[in-house]
Amino acid sequence: MYIAILGRQPALGLAELEQLYGSASVSHLAPQVAEIKTDEFHLSRLGGTLKAGQLTLQSRTAWHQASQKLVEHYLRKWHTFEGKITLGLSGYNLDIDPRELQKTGIILKQKLKKTGVSVRLVPNQELALSTATSHHNKLGLSANKVELLIVKADDGTIHVAESTGAQNITAYTRRDQERPMRDAFVGMLPPKLAQIMINLTGQLLPSEGEPRARILDPFCGTGVILQEAALMGYTVYGTDLAEKMIRYSRDNLNWLAETHHVSFDWFLREGDAVDAQWQQPINAVVAETYLGQPFSAPPSAAKLTEVRGNCNHIISSFLKNIGSQIKPGTPLCIAVPAWRSKDGGFTHLPLIEKLEALGYREATFANLRPDDLLYYREDQVVARELLVLVKL
Ligand SMILES: C[S@@+](CC[C@H](N)C(=O)[O-])C[C@H]1O[C@@H](n2cnc3c(N)ncnc32)[C@H](O)[C@@H]1O
Repeated sequence: MYIAILGRQPALGLAELEQLYGSASVSHLAPQVAEIKTDEFHLSRLGGTLKAGQLTLQSRTAWHQASQKLVEHYLRKWHTFEGKITLGLSGYNLDIDPRELQKTGIILKQKLKKTGVSVRLVPNQELALSTATSHHNKLGLSANKVELLIVKADDGTIHVAESTGAQNITAYTRRDQERPMRDAFVGMLPPKLAQIMINLTGQLLPSEGEPRARILDPFCGTGVILQEAALMGYTVYGTDLAEKMIRYSRDNLNWLAETHHVSFDWFLREGDAVDAQWQQPINAVVAETYLGQPFSAPPSAAKLTEVRGNCNHIISSFLKNIGSQIKPGTPLCIAVPAWRSKDGGFTHLPLIEKLEALGYREATFANLRPDDLLYYREDQVVARELLVLVKL
Protein backbone atom coordinates (compact mmCIF):
# COMPACT_ATOMS: atom_id res chain seq x y z
CA MET A 1 0.00 0.00 0.00
CA TYR A 2 1.35 3.41 -0.98
CA ILE A 3 0.56 6.96 0.08
CA ALA A 4 0.87 9.68 -2.58
CA ILE A 5 1.17 13.37 -1.74
CA LEU A 6 -0.56 15.15 -4.61
CA GLY A 7 0.53 18.33 -6.38
CA ARG A 8 -0.95 21.83 -6.59
CA GLN A 9 -4.05 20.59 -8.41
CA PRO A 10 -4.74 17.32 -6.56
CA ALA A 11 -7.53 16.24 -8.93
CA LEU A 12 -5.05 15.92 -11.79
CA GLY A 13 -2.82 13.69 -9.69
CA LEU A 14 -5.80 11.58 -8.61
CA ALA A 15 -6.99 11.13 -12.20
CA GLU A 16 -3.50 10.08 -13.24
CA LEU A 17 -3.31 7.50 -10.43
CA GLU A 18 -6.77 6.16 -11.29
CA GLN A 19 -5.80 5.64 -14.91
CA LEU A 20 -2.57 3.86 -14.04
CA TYR A 21 -3.60 1.79 -11.03
CA GLY A 22 -7.38 1.46 -11.58
CA SER A 23 -10.10 3.50 -9.85
CA ALA A 24 -10.84 0.72 -7.36
CA SER A 25 -7.23 0.80 -6.10
CA VAL A 26 -7.12 4.54 -5.42
CA SER A 27 -8.78 6.29 -2.48
CA HIS A 28 -8.74 9.98 -1.72
CA LEU A 29 -7.62 10.05 1.92
CA ALA A 30 -7.31 13.79 2.54
CA PRO A 31 -7.36 16.91 0.32
CA GLN A 32 -3.76 16.49 -0.83
CA VAL A 33 -3.34 12.76 -0.26
CA ALA A 34 -4.26 9.50 -2.01
CA GLU A 35 -3.75 5.90 -0.97
CA ILE A 36 -3.01 3.29 -3.63
CA LYS A 37 -3.31 -0.48 -3.34
CA THR A 38 -0.17 -1.52 -5.19
CA ASP A 39 3.16 -3.21 -4.51
CA GLU A 40 5.07 -1.08 -7.00
CA PHE A 41 5.03 2.67 -7.47
CA HIS A 42 6.93 4.57 -10.17
CA LEU A 43 7.19 8.14 -8.92
CA SER A 44 9.47 9.42 -11.68
CA ARG A 45 6.82 8.82 -14.36
CA LEU A 46 4.06 10.62 -12.43
CA GLY A 47 3.56 14.34 -12.97
CA GLY A 48 0.88 14.81 -10.32
CA THR A 49 2.47 13.17 -7.26
CA LEU A 50 5.05 15.14 -5.25
CA LYS A 51 6.13 12.42 -2.83
CA ALA A 52 5.21 8.81 -2.28
CA GLY A 53 5.78 6.32 0.50
CA GLN A 54 4.98 2.82 1.66
CA LEU A 55 2.43 2.54 4.42
CA THR A 56 3.95 1.33 7.70
CA LEU A 57 1.45 2.24 10.42
CA GLN A 58 -2.21 3.06 10.84
CA SER A 59 -3.85 4.34 14.01
CA ARG A 60 -7.48 5.07 14.82
CA THR A 61 -6.49 7.17 17.82
CA ALA A 62 -5.94 10.88 18.44
CA TRP A 63 -2.56 12.40 17.50
CA HIS A 64 -1.05 12.00 20.98
CA GLN A 65 -1.42 8.17 21.02
CA ALA A 66 -0.55 7.89 17.33
CA SER A 67 2.68 9.77 17.94
CA GLN A 68 3.59 7.41 20.84
CA LYS A 69 2.91 4.43 18.58
CA LEU A 70 5.15 5.96 15.91
CA VAL A 71 8.01 6.50 18.39
CA GLU A 72 7.71 2.90 19.69
CA HIS A 73 7.63 1.48 16.14
CA TYR A 74 10.75 3.30 14.95
CA LEU A 75 12.61 2.73 18.22
CA ARG A 76 12.09 -1.02 17.68
CA LYS A 77 13.07 -0.75 14.04
CA TRP A 78 16.20 1.36 14.43
CA HIS A 79 17.67 0.59 17.87
CA THR A 80 20.45 -1.53 16.30
CA PHE A 81 20.91 0.66 13.19
CA GLU A 82 24.53 1.06 12.02
CA GLY A 83 25.41 4.67 11.17
CA LYS A 84 23.61 7.98 11.40
CA ILE A 85 19.99 8.49 10.35
CA THR A 86 18.71 11.68 8.75
CA LEU A 87 15.02 11.97 9.58
CA GLY A 88 12.37 14.30 8.19
CA LEU A 89 8.80 14.40 9.42
CA SER A 90 5.99 15.72 7.23
CA GLY A 91 2.41 16.08 8.39
CA TYR A 92 -0.57 16.41 6.05
CA ASN A 93 -4.08 17.39 7.11
CA LEU A 94 -2.91 17.08 10.75
CA ASP A 95 -4.50 19.70 12.95
CA ILE A 96 -1.47 20.22 15.19
CA ASP A 97 1.21 22.87 15.53
CA PRO A 98 4.41 22.12 13.55
CA ARG A 99 6.30 22.24 16.87
CA GLU A 100 4.21 19.28 18.11
CA LEU A 101 5.42 17.23 15.15
CA GLN A 102 9.05 18.26 15.70
CA LYS A 103 8.61 17.25 19.37
CA THR A 104 7.75 13.69 18.27
CA GLY A 105 10.99 13.67 16.26
CA ILE A 106 13.00 14.97 19.24
CA ILE A 107 11.56 12.28 21.56
CA LEU A 108 12.45 9.56 19.05
CA LYS A 109 15.94 11.04 18.58
CA GLN A 110 16.57 11.13 22.34
CA LYS A 111 15.38 7.55 22.85
CA LEU A 112 17.52 6.29 19.98
CA LYS A 113 20.53 8.18 21.34
CA LYS A 114 20.30 6.08 24.51
CA THR A 115 20.66 2.94 22.35
CA GLY A 116 23.72 4.44 20.64
CA VAL A 117 21.98 5.44 17.38
CA SER A 118 22.44 9.00 16.23
CA VAL A 119 19.69 10.91 14.36
CA ARG A 120 19.79 14.24 12.55
CA LEU A 121 16.32 15.72 12.49
CA VAL A 122 15.67 17.88 9.40
CA PRO A 123 14.51 21.23 10.85
CA ASN A 124 11.12 22.52 9.72
CA GLN A 125 8.96 25.52 10.58
CA GLU A 126 6.04 24.11 8.58
CA LEU A 127 4.06 20.93 9.10
CA ALA A 128 5.43 19.34 5.90
CA LEU A 129 8.88 19.52 4.34
CA SER A 130 8.81 21.12 0.90
CA THR A 131 9.43 18.85 -2.10
CA ALA A 132 12.68 20.78 -2.64
CA THR A 133 13.92 20.03 0.91
CA SER A 134 13.01 16.35 0.62
CA HIS A 135 14.66 16.12 -2.78
CA HIS A 136 17.85 17.98 -1.84
CA ASN A 137 18.28 15.91 1.36
CA LYS A 138 17.74 12.75 -0.75
CA LEU A 139 15.09 11.62 1.74
CA GLY A 140 13.62 8.22 1.00
CA LEU A 141 16.43 7.24 -1.35
CA SER A 142 18.50 5.16 1.11
CA ALA A 143 18.01 3.31 4.40
CA ASN A 144 19.58 6.10 6.48
CA LYS A 145 17.72 9.03 4.89
CA VAL A 146 14.13 8.73 5.94
CA GLU A 147 11.04 10.89 5.63
CA LEU A 148 7.86 9.88 7.38
CA LEU A 149 4.68 11.06 5.69
CA ILE A 150 2.08 11.37 8.44
CA VAL A 151 -1.45 11.86 7.20
CA LYS A 152 -4.71 12.40 9.00
CA ALA A 153 -7.36 10.94 6.70
CA ASP A 154 -10.74 12.67 6.40
CA ASP A 155 -12.21 9.86 8.55
CA GLY A 156 -9.78 10.71 11.38
CA THR A 157 -7.45 7.71 10.96
CA ILE A 158 -3.73 8.50 11.06
CA HIS A 159 -1.59 6.84 8.37
CA VAL A 160 2.20 6.78 8.45
CA ALA A 161 4.24 5.99 5.34
CA GLU A 162 8.00 5.82 4.76
CA SER A 163 8.84 7.96 1.77
CA THR A 164 10.42 6.26 -1.23
CA GLY A 165 11.41 9.64 -2.68
CA ALA A 166 10.21 13.06 -3.79
CA GLN A 167 9.84 14.44 -7.31
CA ASN A 168 13.19 15.22 -8.89
CA ILE A 169 12.64 18.92 -9.34
CA THR A 170 16.20 19.46 -10.56
CA ALA A 171 15.56 17.10 -13.49
CA TYR A 172 12.21 18.74 -14.34
CA THR A 173 13.76 22.22 -14.34
CA ARG A 174 16.56 21.01 -16.58
CA ARG A 175 14.18 19.41 -19.09
CA ASP A 176 12.02 22.51 -19.09
CA GLN A 177 14.66 25.24 -19.19
CA GLU A 178 17.83 23.82 -20.65
CA ARG A 179 16.38 22.40 -23.86
CA PRO A 180 17.66 24.47 -26.76
CA MET A 181 14.35 25.51 -28.34
CA ARG A 182 11.64 27.26 -26.40
CA ASP A 183 8.86 29.47 -27.66
CA ALA A 184 6.87 31.64 -25.29
CA PHE A 185 4.24 32.27 -27.98
CA VAL A 186 3.17 28.67 -28.53
CA GLY A 187 3.17 28.35 -24.75
CA MET A 188 5.17 26.41 -22.27
CA LEU A 189 3.56 23.15 -21.35
CA PRO A 190 5.12 22.12 -18.02
CA PRO A 191 6.82 18.70 -18.31
CA LYS A 192 4.83 17.47 -15.30
CA LEU A 193 1.55 18.28 -17.06
CA ALA A 194 2.81 16.48 -20.16
CA GLN A 195 3.50 13.40 -18.01
CA ILE A 196 0.02 13.60 -16.48
CA MET A 197 -1.55 13.81 -19.96
CA ILE A 198 0.43 10.82 -21.22
CA ASN A 199 -0.54 8.81 -18.14
CA LEU A 200 -4.20 9.81 -18.55
CA THR A 201 -4.28 7.69 -21.70
CA GLY A 202 -3.60 4.76 -19.36
CA GLN A 203 -0.84 3.37 -21.59
CA LEU A 204 1.58 1.26 -19.60
CA LEU A 205 5.24 0.80 -20.34
CA PRO A 206 5.83 -2.14 -22.64
CA SER A 207 7.58 -5.13 -21.14
CA GLU A 208 11.02 -6.24 -22.24
CA GLY A 209 11.05 -7.52 -25.81
CA GLU A 210 7.63 -6.11 -26.76
CA PRO A 211 7.43 -3.36 -29.39
CA ARG A 212 7.13 0.08 -27.84
CA ALA A 213 3.75 1.79 -28.09
CA ARG A 214 3.74 4.90 -30.29
CA ILE A 215 2.28 8.18 -29.10
CA LEU A 216 1.16 10.78 -31.61
CA ASP A 217 1.10 14.52 -30.83
CA PRO A 218 -0.52 16.26 -33.85
CA PHE A 219 0.04 19.77 -32.36
CA CYS A 220 3.59 19.03 -31.16
CA GLY A 221 4.97 22.63 -31.04
CA THR A 222 8.37 22.56 -29.33
CA GLY A 223 7.89 18.90 -28.40
CA VAL A 224 7.36 18.81 -24.62
CA ILE A 225 4.91 15.89 -24.85
CA LEU A 226 7.20 14.01 -27.27
CA GLN A 227 10.14 14.59 -24.93
CA GLU A 228 8.33 13.25 -21.85
CA ALA A 229 6.84 10.30 -23.75
CA ALA A 230 10.28 9.35 -25.10
CA LEU A 231 11.71 9.40 -21.56
CA MET A 232 8.84 7.21 -20.39
CA GLY A 233 9.80 4.59 -22.97
CA TYR A 234 7.42 5.29 -25.86
CA THR A 235 8.12 5.76 -29.52
CA VAL A 236 7.06 9.29 -30.49
CA TYR A 237 5.44 10.85 -33.54
CA GLY A 238 4.88 14.58 -33.84
CA THR A 239 3.20 16.73 -36.46
CA ASP A 240 2.51 20.48 -36.49
CA LEU A 241 1.20 23.06 -38.91
CA ALA A 242 4.35 25.18 -38.59
CA GLU A 243 7.61 24.04 -40.17
CA LYS A 244 9.47 26.06 -37.52
CA MET A 245 7.89 23.96 -34.77
CA ILE A 246 9.01 20.73 -36.44
CA ARG A 247 12.58 22.09 -36.41
CA TYR A 248 12.23 23.07 -32.76
CA SER A 249 10.94 19.62 -31.81
CA ARG A 250 13.75 17.97 -33.77
CA ASP A 251 16.42 20.03 -31.98
CA ASN A 252 14.83 19.37 -28.60
CA LEU A 253 14.58 15.61 -29.19
CA ASN A 254 18.20 15.47 -30.37
CA TRP A 255 19.23 17.37 -27.23
CA LEU A 256 17.22 14.96 -25.05
CA ALA A 257 18.78 11.88 -26.61
CA GLU A 258 22.30 13.28 -26.19
CA THR A 259 22.04 14.76 -22.71
CA HIS A 260 19.87 12.07 -21.15
CA HIS A 261 21.55 9.12 -22.85
CA VAL A 262 18.27 7.64 -24.04
CA SER A 263 17.55 6.15 -27.40
CA PHE A 264 14.09 6.11 -28.89
CA ASP A 265 12.44 6.11 -32.30
CA TRP A 266 10.86 9.34 -33.40
CA PHE A 267 9.22 10.71 -36.49
CA LEU A 268 8.34 14.36 -37.20
CA ARG A 269 6.48 15.89 -40.10
CA GLU A 270 4.71 19.10 -41.01
CA GLY A 271 0.94 18.71 -41.24
CA ASP A 272 -2.40 20.38 -40.61
CA ALA A 273 -4.23 18.34 -37.97
CA VAL A 274 -7.51 19.10 -39.72
CA ASP A 275 -6.63 17.05 -42.82
CA ALA A 276 -3.30 15.26 -42.18
CA GLN A 277 -2.91 11.58 -43.02
CA TRP A 278 -0.86 9.93 -40.30
CA GLN A 279 1.26 6.80 -40.53
CA GLN A 280 0.30 3.78 -38.48
CA PRO A 281 0.68 2.59 -35.78
CA ILE A 282 -0.95 5.13 -33.50
CA ASN A 283 -1.40 3.60 -30.05
CA ALA A 284 -2.40 6.78 -28.22
CA VAL A 285 -2.90 10.46 -29.03
CA VAL A 286 -1.70 13.13 -26.59
CA ALA A 287 -1.77 16.81 -27.53
CA GLU A 288 -2.01 20.33 -26.28
CA THR A 289 -4.17 21.57 -29.14
CA TYR A 290 -4.59 25.05 -30.51
CA LEU A 291 -5.51 27.27 -27.52
CA GLY A 292 -6.31 30.48 -29.43
CA GLN A 293 -4.66 33.76 -28.60
CA PRO A 294 -3.37 34.40 -25.07
CA PHE A 295 -5.22 36.97 -22.93
CA SER A 296 -3.95 38.87 -19.92
CA ALA A 297 -7.51 39.97 -18.96
CA PRO A 298 -10.89 38.36 -19.73
CA PRO A 299 -11.82 39.27 -23.35
CA SER A 300 -15.04 41.06 -24.36
CA ALA A 301 -18.06 38.83 -25.07
CA ALA A 302 -17.69 39.41 -28.83
CA LYS A 303 -13.99 38.54 -28.81
CA LEU A 304 -14.59 35.44 -26.72
CA THR A 305 -17.30 34.25 -29.14
CA GLU A 306 -14.91 34.70 -32.05
CA VAL A 307 -11.90 32.93 -30.46
CA ARG A 308 -14.02 30.14 -29.02
CA GLY A 309 -15.71 29.54 -32.39
CA ASN A 310 -12.35 29.41 -34.14
CA CYS A 311 -10.80 26.96 -31.63
CA ASN A 312 -13.97 24.85 -31.65
CA HIS A 313 -13.86 24.58 -35.43
CA ILE A 314 -10.18 23.56 -35.58
CA ILE A 315 -10.38 21.07 -32.71
CA SER A 316 -13.62 19.40 -33.82
CA SER A 317 -12.30 19.11 -37.37
CA PHE A 318 -9.14 17.53 -35.95
CA LEU A 319 -11.19 15.07 -33.85
CA LYS A 320 -13.18 14.03 -36.92
CA ASN A 321 -10.02 13.60 -38.98
CA ILE A 322 -8.03 11.60 -36.42
CA GLY A 323 -11.14 9.58 -35.53
CA SER A 324 -11.23 8.18 -39.07
CA GLN A 325 -7.61 6.98 -38.73
CA ILE A 326 -7.44 5.33 -35.30
CA LYS A 327 -8.79 2.00 -34.10
CA PRO A 328 -11.78 1.80 -31.74
CA GLY A 329 -10.47 1.71 -28.17
CA THR A 330 -7.52 4.05 -28.90
CA PRO A 331 -7.07 6.43 -25.95
CA LEU A 332 -6.60 10.18 -26.35
CA CYS A 333 -5.80 12.96 -23.91
CA ILE A 334 -6.05 16.42 -25.37
CA ALA A 335 -5.77 19.82 -23.72
CA VAL A 336 -8.29 22.30 -25.11
CA PRO A 337 -8.89 25.91 -24.05
CA ALA A 338 -11.47 27.05 -21.47
CA TRP A 339 -11.72 30.75 -20.60
CA ARG A 340 -12.00 32.04 -17.06
CA SER A 341 -14.35 34.93 -16.40
CA LYS A 342 -13.92 37.57 -13.66
CA ASP A 343 -16.26 35.64 -11.33
CA GLY A 344 -14.05 32.52 -11.60
CA GLY A 345 -16.47 30.59 -13.88
CA PHE A 346 -15.38 28.95 -17.14
CA THR A 347 -16.55 29.19 -20.73
CA HIS A 348 -16.01 25.79 -22.35
CA LEU A 349 -15.77 24.73 -25.99
CA PRO A 350 -19.17 23.70 -27.44
CA LEU A 351 -17.65 20.45 -28.81
CA ILE A 352 -17.42 19.09 -25.24
CA GLU A 353 -21.19 18.53 -25.35
CA LYS A 354 -20.89 16.67 -28.67
CA LEU A 355 -18.08 14.20 -28.04
CA GLU A 356 -20.23 11.14 -28.59
CA ALA A 357 -21.51 12.48 -31.92
CA LEU A 358 -17.86 13.06 -32.85
CA GLY A 359 -17.15 9.38 -32.15
CA TYR A 360 -15.65 9.43 -28.64
CA ARG A 361 -16.49 8.33 -25.12
CA GLU A 362 -15.20 10.38 -22.18
CA ALA A 363 -13.30 8.46 -19.48
CA THR A 364 -14.90 8.53 -16.03
CA PHE A 365 -13.10 8.91 -12.70
CA ALA A 366 -14.34 7.80 -9.29
CA ASN A 367 -12.69 10.55 -7.25
CA LEU A 368 -13.28 13.58 -9.51
CA ARG A 369 -15.97 16.22 -9.95
CA PRO A 370 -16.88 18.02 -13.19
CA ASP A 371 -14.42 20.83 -13.96
CA ASP A 372 -11.69 19.08 -11.97
CA LEU A 373 -9.55 18.43 -15.04
CA LEU A 374 -8.81 22.10 -15.63
CA TYR A 375 -5.22 23.25 -15.35
CA TYR A 376 -4.49 26.93 -14.77
CA ARG A 377 -2.57 29.34 -12.61
CA GLU A 378 -4.41 32.04 -10.72
CA ASP A 379 -3.28 34.77 -13.13
CA GLN A 380 -4.25 32.87 -16.32
CA VAL A 381 -7.36 33.62 -18.37
CA VAL A 382 -6.96 30.68 -20.74
CA ALA A 383 -7.07 27.41 -18.82
CA ARG A 384 -6.19 24.04 -20.32
CA GLU A 385 -9.10 21.66 -20.05
CA LEU A 386 -8.01 18.02 -20.26
CA LEU A 387 -10.33 15.76 -22.24
CA VAL A 388 -9.67 12.08 -21.65
CA LEU A 389 -11.29 10.17 -24.50
CA VAL A 390 -11.57 6.75 -26.03
CA LYS A 391 -12.38 6.28 -29.72
CA LEU A 392 -15.73 4.52 -30.09
C1 LIG B 1 -0.40 25.24 -27.66
S1 LIG B 1 0.77 24.89 -28.87
C2 LIG B 1 1.42 23.36 -28.35
C3 LIG B 1 2.75 23.53 -27.67
C4 LIG B 1 3.42 22.25 -27.36
N1 LIG B 1 2.74 21.48 -26.35
C5 LIG B 1 4.90 22.45 -26.99
O1 LIG B 1 5.43 21.56 -26.33
O2 LIG B 1 5.52 23.43 -27.37
C6 LIG B 1 -0.20 24.51 -30.25
C7 LIG B 1 0.58 24.14 -31.48
O3 LIG B 1 -0.38 23.77 -32.47
C8 LIG B 1 0.09 24.20 -33.73
N2 LIG B 1 -1.12 24.32 -34.58
C9 LIG B 1 -2.06 25.26 -34.62
N3 LIG B 1 -3.02 24.94 -35.50
C10 LIG B 1 -2.69 23.72 -36.01
C11 LIG B 1 -3.28 22.83 -36.94
N4 LIG B 1 -4.42 23.14 -37.57
N5 LIG B 1 -2.65 21.66 -37.21
C12 LIG B 1 -1.49 21.34 -36.59
N6 LIG B 1 -0.89 22.16 -35.71
C13 LIG B 1 -1.48 23.32 -35.42
C14 LIG B 1 0.83 25.49 -33.47
O4 LIG B 1 1.82 25.69 -34.48
C15 LIG B 1 1.45 25.21 -32.10
O5 LIG B 1 2.74 24.72 -32.23
